[in-house]
Amino acid sequence: EETGKSGYDHFMLKEIHEQPRSLRQCLRGRVSELDGTVDLDVDVDPDGVQFVACGTSYHAALCGVSLFHEAGIPAQAFLASEYATSPPPVDGDLVIGVTQSGETADTLSALREAKRRGAETLAVTNVVGSSVSRECDQTLYIRAGPEIGVAATKTFSSQVLALALLVLSGTGASRQDVAALRDLPGNVQQVLDESNAEDIARAYDGSDAYFFIGRGLQYPVSLEGALKFKEISYEHAEGFAAGELKHGPLALVTENTPVFAAVTGDDLLARKTIGNVKEVEARDAPVVVVTDGQNDAARYADHVLEVPVSDDRTAAILANVQLQLVAYHAAALLDRSIDKPRNLAKSVTVE
Ligand code: G6P
Repeated sequence: EETGKSGYDHFMLKEIHEQPRSLRQCLRGRVSELDGTVDLDVDVDPDGVQFVACGTSYHAALCGVSLFHEAGIPAQAFLASEYATSPPPVDGDLVIGVTQSGETADTLSALREAKRRGAETLAVTNVVGSSVSRECDQTLYIRAGPEIGVAATKTFSSQVLALALLVLSGTGASRQDVAALRDLPGNVQQVLDESNAEDIARAYDGSDAYFFIGRGLQYPVSLEGALKFKEISYEHAEGFAAGELKHGPLALVTENTPVFAAVTGDDLLARKTIGNVKEVEARDAPVVVVTDGQNDAARYADHVLEVPVSDDRTAAILANVQLQLVAYHAAALLDRSIDKPRNLAKSVTVE
């Protein structure tokens, strides 16, 4: 098993560092630099989309919702375990199951329910020949390569990228889209080479709790940042939509609860999140911003995790890589069982 880690202390860290390669594999042969055509070997043209997924894959599905919305296609994401009581798909809806392993019982059962309700189904998975790929009408592979660490890392990035490609396969990619996709693996490499996440994990070791906030695509990233953190550090971590802080969670914020805010770009969403960062700062909580420097969030921060400038799709993936590293280093400082956290399994085959 030691040799499988290629010199890294844990599979999780190895897999975090594999992301430039796994993202390249996801892109390979799928996007034409010439005319922006995206060819994925799947044939879908949905009027609407319902996602079903669990855990980290559910967070990727939430990113998928934003991506489809931006392209003018209505989309919703459901936790697979809640799908049986959700509104049924309507005619023309595609139900997409996002599952790394392709074996998660809740997700398989939600997809069977979708079929019973008459919907077409698409699997987005990492594992060739998995149950989900056999049961769904079509399959889109994320091509991340095997993931051993229980906490999903590289597969989240590849799920989001695959869903972005799925949307672009319907609309075609603009020159800017093609450039952002082409630059993504190199930008992830830059984050990995230059990240100060270990220093930040050290600075906030021993805090009472860790909060994560964001808007738009950075909202699922904040949920995922918190999930990763709690899974492997066993510390209390929660992700919130930045705008929801004032509706409750702000009561939990103290000088001993660092707040990580993912704020990229310089649009209205970013400016609103900066407003929330100021609210947190006014309550004396330490603030860490993940930013590409296109806005002035860093002015209100105690620490900054930098990501290269890109578009909003790829910025979400880049910000998430920084949060993966923070979670990893926080757990390493506490000497946790990072690759096999207590009570968790890589794939849960019971409902
Ligand atoms: C388990 C794993 C999580 C994973 C979830 C969904 O709970 O510990 O890391 O996100 O299952 O797994 P899937 O294979 O369906 O993506």
